[in-house]
Amino acid sequence: MSVQKEIKKVTTNTLQKMKAAGEKISMLTAYDFSFARIIDGAGIDVILVGDSASNVMAGHETTLPITLDQIIYHAQSVIRGIDRCLVVVDLPFGYYQSNSDIALASAIRIMKETGGHSVKLEGGSEVIESVKKIVSAGIPVMGHLGLTPQSIYKFGTYTVRAKEEEEANKLREDAKLLEAAGCFAIVLEKIPAKLAEEVSKSISIPTIGIGAGGACDGQVLVMHDMLGINTEFKPRFLRQYLNIHEQASKAVQQYITDIKSGDFPNESEQY
Ligand code: KIV
Repeated sequence: MSVQKEIKKVTTNTLQKMKAAGEKISMLTAYDFSFARIIDGAGIDVILVGDSASNVMAGHETTLPITLDQIIYHAQSVIRGIDRCLVVVDLPFGYYQSNSDIALASAIRIMKETGGHSVKLEGGSEVIESVKKIVSAGIPVMGHLGLTPQSIYKFGTYTVRAKEEEEANKLREDAKLLEAAGCFAIVLEKIPAKLAEEVSKSISIPTIGIGAGGACDGQVLVMHDMLGINTEFKPRFLRQYLNIHEQASKAVQQYITDIKSGDFPNESEQY
């Protein structure tokens, strides 16, 4: 008789318990089946199907061009590769800002067509009605404050946000509003570590930091940056764990050499 080991899936409740227990949450982006399989198999808590796919998968300069259909395609691929982790799917720019009915319709498409477990959207008070509507339809929502890349043309640069008191105060208030509206977690991107610590202590839901210091309840990075697939993007907050760009480039050069020299394929590599 074969005994199948039961996989304990990560849920939004798991993350809540992790915060309460002081256990850090690990989150990484993924956009396709094969990497989702590696990342989930390695034991990550959360995969974010980020709109950063617009940059790292499609080569756009910003996250603005990615469409709802495209993020759905990426999320469907990721879902086929995972057994355990919680999957959060970004609502792309233009599919939730105009009104809460449109936001809900977009979130429902993501949940129905991908099998993802939750959605993420950027902003605070400006999107609070949409957050409430999506949550009341039973869809878990992750917030995103600080540097919100969908607003890059408003900010003008990708530098640290909320250094001034006025913006820091708005962020403090927005975090409380998102918590009250029912968000299960909030990404804090590129804000001073001290502010992120204060916000993390002031709310009961987990904060997930990216360039927001070590006191957040969890951390997220873009997979292509931490694995060194992209090597041009080197912000201070990034820890690069591999240099896939260099290794893959060397492997491809060797492959070309082996073909040209007639070394590949050899006798054991043919029929
Ligand atoms: O799209 C993304 O990758 C993100 C992370 C930077 C948090 O939103």
